[in-house]
Amino acid sequence: MSHVRSGALVFYGATGDLAYKKIFPALHRMVKAGVLDVPVIGVAREAWSLEQLQTRAGASVIEHGDGIDTVAFPRLMQLLRFVSGEYTTPDTFDTLRRELGDAAKPLHYMAIPQTLFETVIGQLGRTGCDQHARLVLEKPFGTDVASARHLNAVLHQCFDEQAIFRIDHYLGKEAVQNLVFFRFANTFLEPIWNRQYVENVQITMAEPFGIKGRGAFYDQTGTIRDVVQNHLLQVLSNIAMEPPPNSADTETLRDEKVKVLKAIPSLQHSKVVRGQFDGYLREPGVAANSQTETYAALELAVESSRWEGVPFYIRTGKHLPVSRTEVVIKLRRPPRITGVPLVSNHVRFQLGPAFQIGLGATVREPGRDQGHALELLASHDHEGAETDPYAELLGDAMRGETFRFARQDYVEQAWRIVEPVLSGGGSPQVYAPGSWGPAAGQALVAGGWTDAEHDHASHG
Ligand code: BG6
Repeated sequence: MSHVRSGALVFYGATGDLAYKKIFPALHRMVKAGVLDVPVIGVAREAWSLEQLQTRAGASVIEHGDGIDTVAFPRLMQLLRFVSGEYTTPDTFDTLRRELGDAAKPLHYMAIPQTLFETVIGQLGRTGCDQHARLVLEKPFGTDVASARHLNAVLHQCFDEQAIFRIDHYLGKEAVQNLVFFRFANTFLEPIWNRQYVENVQITMAEPFGIKGRGAFYDQTGTIRDVVQNHLLQVLSNIAMEPPPNSADTETLRDEKVKVLKAIPSLQHSKVVRGQFDGYLREPGVAANSQTETYAALELAVESSRWEGVPFYIRTGKHLPVSRTEVVIKLRRPPRITGVPLVSNHVRFQLGPAFQIGLGATVREPGRDQGHALELLASHDHEGAETDPYAELLGDAMRGETFRFARQDYVEQAWRIVEPVLSGGGSPQVYAPGSWGPAAGQALVAGGWTDAEHDHASHG
């Protein structure tokens, strides 16, 4: 693997939404952190001037970033170039070729719809812009197994797997990385991290908002494709993977995550509850009779010697009552103490919006021999705890670091797991916005979901 730094960063879709919301703020942070000091070339179809793009970058950093830094922002403006042209027109890429000059390992970042990838990659190949280059892609990486394979074949026409960086922004989140780190950095966890002690694992990603005007996209996508196949299976693999050997290189680490997915049987409809919030059918861009889910709760098995028999539950949806992404490792109930029944303990990782770890424990109720549940809470919300996933991931890609990106075999395995429930299975159950979704989803976990309702003993 080559760690030569990329000598230029090209991003397609420079005038678009992703560039405005995520990429400019990330580029600005990278310049500020001293990790970006090479030409940054925006490409887009709009016939804008460079000044227009610069104005847009400024507005983006103010609205979605940290505000203008008086040193970093002018530097970013010096680095910024703009190539305007259709993706189907050879001229666009001939101009890009000239702009790139002899930049080493240029990074091409596709912030454009997937339907354009094949065209752009063909042009990169024709002009030689793909030579020794790197490619960054945004999800979705296909929409099922066959389309993911097709996409990979297209990418591999010009790029080796080692040069392809598939962004799942969850892998850039500090709290998600801490999941793996915390597991392996704390001796008290390893002995209990298995089927002997764990009753089940619950992953929740609750969002209180709807589809934010993305009806046309969302209706073709649905919850399982949008966040389960990628973000939430990534979280699950972090929890379930085996400790890698000390000498592990990046590929060995990525192998460990693929092994987890290979141990998961494909989903069946009987293990999935699909919901649709009341009012979804009136959203612009949504088909009048749409059966697309905006909520899913499902049960998976990881058939490894560590996890056999331990259900892994995932629950996620739009218009749920709270904003919370978390993982609960529910431990088996302890035996009774002199006849007093006890509730089970748990380890909770809140990944967002707060960044916390909770240990669900039982203490003696003052004055009587009875258990009282409380959660020992450690917060990581101190300044600087959450970094910008896009800045982190783009920085990695520019250094050729592949670990925090989804590999081809991982993506195809993830589609294999969800594919049987992507269609069929009848109409989703309608749920009231602001509720926890269909009752069947709440009932999926034997003993109920372990919600954050304990008293807290904070040790932040
Ligand atoms: C995106 C999905 O990939 O992830 C959105 O398309 C979802 O529907 C978002 O809201 C969640 O990301 P985060 O970082 O806000 O948890």
